[in-house]
Amino acid sequence: MAFPTETVYGLGADAFNERAVARVFEVKNRPRFDPLIVHIADAGSVERLAADFSAGAQRLAARFWPGPLTLVLTKKPIVPDLVTAGCSTVALRVPDHPLTLELLRAAGLALAGPSANPFGCISPTTAAHVREQLGDRIDMVLDGGPCRVGVESTVLQLTDERPILLRPGGTTLEEIEQVIGSVSLPTTTAVREAPGGMASPGMLSRHYAPRTPLIVRTPETGSIAENALGKEKRLGLLAFRPGGDVAQFARVEVLSPGGDLREAAANFFAALRRLDAAGLELIVADQLPESGLGRALNDRLRRAAHS
Ligand code: TXA
Ligand code: MG
Repeated sequence: MAFPTETVYGLGADAFNERAVARVFEVKNRPRFDPLIVHIADAGSVERLAADFSAGAQRLAARFWPGPLTLVLTKKPIVPDLVTAGCSTVALRVPDHPLTLELLRAAGLALAGPSANPFGCISPTTAAHVREQLGDRIDMVLDGGPCRVGVESTVLQLTDERPILLRPGGTTLEEIEQVIGSVSLPTTTAVREAPGGMASPGMLSRHYAPRTPLIVRTPETGSIAENALGKEKRLGLLAFRPGGDVAQFARVEVLSPGGDLREAAANFFAALRRLDAAGLELIVADQLPESGLGRALNDRLRRAAHS
């Protein structure tokens, strides 16, 4: 069953039903080494699943849950290894969507769920996106409207002395550091633990990808885009704000008319999806400011561009 959250739609299974969890991996075509986030109703459910709900983790939960922050904590043996892909940790979050919260509360569920898209593809931010990509493979989509945040949760590992940002997302680094002080970034941290040396398989370099080739236009790569223009390709532009040189582009998607990163995040995956469906030869995406939610969006752009 697909369920709405404030970030993206998820594909859920009772975390304790291993057959249902196995089916989620199968439907998504997701490698078994990539662990799932477990969605819970409230911070009170952490103790059942995690062995170390530290003071710092509790402060983060109190501040950001329900919301787009996933905490990676040492798991209790009760959590099936299939869910955590054999890791000694479990990723937990309380999603901020009334329908899903009600489902979690009413059924007393812990819902293991990745984003409801085929592995590596663009994440779904509406029920229609889920139906397009997985409609023939799943029983039900719980339609909770378009996702308010639009980019996946921030994944933060809290098992070491210093918190590690495994995936930038809907809760900004700046907000997190206000609560617990400085956080290590994955680029400055030795990546370890999971098979293949990936601390978080979400760090796979190619991910969130459209079928159309995509390049990110930074001040430095601006000229690459210009070269492509010279070849008269059918080009699309993913722009942060209106304005700029748009005449050469067959299709333009503006993420935020007001130049606001929240609005840009909410529109991001749907805009990328529309460009991907427009029969273009190349998508040129403008890099966003590398702060706040821009960090998460730039991360998705870099992965979409990686081939
Ligand atoms: O916003 C979200 O997080 C959405 C909604 C549905 O909740 N979910 C989502 O799930 O994006 P998924 O599976 O697409 O991404 C989960 C990320 C992956 O990068 C995965 O590797 C990482 O979390 N992860 C899960 N469990 C982990 C663990 N025990 N240790 C490290 N990383 C983990
Ligand atoms: Mg995903």
